[in-house]
Amino acid sequence: MIRVFCIVISLCISWGLIARDKKEFFPKKNLTTVGAYYYPEHWDESQWDRDLRKMSEMGFEFTHFAEFAWAQLEPEEGKYDFAWLDKAIAIAAKHNLKVILCTSTATPPVWLTRKHPEILIKNENGTTVDHGARQHASFSSTFYRQYSLKMIAELAKRYGKDSRVMGWQLDNEPGVRQDYNTDALLRFRSFLRNKYNNQIQELNKAWGTAFWSQIYSSFDQINFPLPSNWGQNPHQMLDYRRFTAYESASFLDEQAAEIRKYSTSEQWITSNYIPDYWAGHIGKSKLFDFYSYTRYIVSGGLGIGQKGYRIGDPMLIPFANDYFRPIGGMYGVMELQPGQVNWGTVNPQPYPGAVRLWLWSVFAGGSDFTCTYRFRQPIYGDEQYHAGIVGTDGVTPSRGGLEYQQFITDIAKLRKLYNPKAQLPAEYTKRKTAILHNVDNTWSMSKQKQTVEWNTDNHIQKYYKPLKSFGAPVDVVNEEADWNKYPVLIAPAYQLVDDQLIEKWTNYAKQGGHLVLSCRSGQKDRFDRLFEMPFGGKMVNLIGAKMDFFDLLVPSDPGTVQMNEKNYPWVSWGEVFTPDSQTEVWGTYVNDFYAGKAAVLHRKLGKGSVTYIGVDSSDGSLEKDVLKRVYALNGTSLMNLPQGVWMEYRDGFGIAVNYGPEAFEFPLNNKARIVIGEKKIPLAGVLVWEE
Ligand code: GAL
Repeated sequence: MIRVFCIVISLCISWGLIARDKKEFFPKKNLTTVGAYYYPEHWDESQWDRDLRKMSEMGFEFTHFAEFAWAQLEPEEGKYDFAWLDKAIAIAAKHNLKVILCTSTATPPVWLTRKHPEILIKNENGTTVDHGARQHASFSSTFYRQYSLKMIAELAKRYGKDSRVMGWQLDNEPGVRQDYNTDALLRFRSFLRNKYNNQIQELNKAWGTAFWSQIYSSFDQINFPLPSNWGQNPHQMLDYRRFTAYESASFLDEQAAEIRKYSTSEQWITSNYIPDYWAGHIGKSKLFDFYSYTRYIVSGGLGIGQKGYRIGDPMLIPFANDYFRPIGGMYGVMELQPGQVNWGTVNPQPYPGAVRLWLWSVFAGGSDFTCTYRFRQPIYGDEQYHAGIVGTDGVTPSRGGLEYQQFITDIAKLRKLYNPKAQLPAEYTKRKTAILHNVDNTWSMSKQKQTVEWNTDNHIQKYYKPLKSFGAPVDVVNEEADWNKYPVLIAPAYQLVDDQLIEKWTNYAKQGGHLVLSCRSGQKDRFDRLFEMPFGGKMVNLIGAKMDFFDLLVPSDPGTVQMNEKNYPWVSWGEVFTPDSQTEVWGTYVNDFYAGKAAVLHRKLGKGSVTYIGVDSSDGSLEKDVLKRVYALNGTSLMNLPQGVWMEYRDGFGIAVNYGPEAFEFPLNNKARIVIGEKKIPLAGVLVWEE
């Protein structure tokens, strides 16, 4: 009886009649799994068995095929060749490697491009990109979508029920490009018709077209905003950005829907996004099972200290973890750097241990898998100097390859110790913090920065970095999320608001949350227009203060804000307030004609509080000290990790990583039992413990 019940349930699941727990895609007891990209079409068939055997012997558990292989899968229109892929999948399976399949839409075959040159992306100056590279087809092209979906359907018919295939990656790093293709323009117009209820007057109002005589009488008169147009309408640009995000997501959703027609629900669907928080389309596809990202850490950036350029910026991986995980409730990393890349400003060798450090950094955020680009170093094509897990001879493990192997061995050790009942330490969960993010704000501020000193990403990092030094788990969330599970919610430079959002912020604080807002927040509506009220007027009731004005300085004459007798320098943005009598002033301006006026405000609201930091400090130290005061409000104990060191807990393990500049003695508590590494974490080192 029980057996019959189980069979019925599993059939319902595989037919998609019952939604599965996403975590089942990757068994929890395995903690994580590691794979590598392999391009059978790049190598002589006689080597496939040797290569995939080697991959498996090194401990990899899955591989990744057919990413840029449309020309090999459909060599002539309508003539498909799956024999080579069948063979490669069979060899992978023989070596116990699961397979991720890709949809190849980043590389159309030349027969398609020549037959329909109108599929190509058009640049602002009217030139079109051409065959001979990749990512040159327009996501807006009707033909391109049709041809892509036809090819994808054939692929899914063949492999959608194949248990050797675990999931699908759609396209490759689907980006948003400025695309002046004719189909794109037509689709932009219909996007606007839809948004403005086919009423051109609604659009005129939203875009403020009374300004500079820009009034339209029909949607057909609207063109793309041109970046080269000086003084281009900002409202039009914001809608164009939203369109490009929608366009990318809608193409991927069409792909996902096509695969779903033929695949079992055992196979998951995702895409591999560049963690480009400006792109705006990440998270917009509705049919994905989860989101994955790609990450290259050493490519010419300086990192911390003398050797930091070999180790990378310590925040690149954790921020991506915290950004992607909340979107789909889980995440994986589809491409992680295996060694030198070929496209950086400088492509140094990673520091000994750095590749392994990145793997642990991905793991620490709770990921289910990491895949590396790529197994073999290419010997022809555009990426010849790009490292692989094995080198140009196809057999010798690279330095990075050996570090992957080391990580895989370490994970095997953790799997043996895994305790499904393990809980996250209470003091860690108490620090749980959300950062509210909406790319519309970034777009809006990039168009009207007001000062070259302003940088939205850096501003957000001034809040994120302290959180990591406190040992706080962070989720980057959107406006729809349930914020009540986070004791602290930070909305940095949240420029575009409406009454609904302000009400949600107010209720969050009233119900006991500690809301932290920073400068530039609440200044504009969703169309990017200022409110018809005193500047900053929308925020008065929430923050308990009126804004007198804002000021922007030059680096040769920095300002100072004082809090608790400590001075903090600032240049880029400072707002000057007159607080209500109930509002506490935490920080004041020290100099200039507004010396003594309020810069940092705090007020109680219901069971919680609202803190407003009206200034963007030069080094982030003010933001850090204000956050410390906020956590002290409910007695949250914070860590004090130095720059370059951060930690997380998952599945009963604590993981601490050191991006430098020096060795660091980690303050382990008495309950901790070291599993990997030592208390004194060396440069590029890792410490893992059970707790
Ligand atoms: C990624 C891309 C890969 C490969 C890699 C090289 O951005 O998705 O296909 O080109 O860069 O580092």
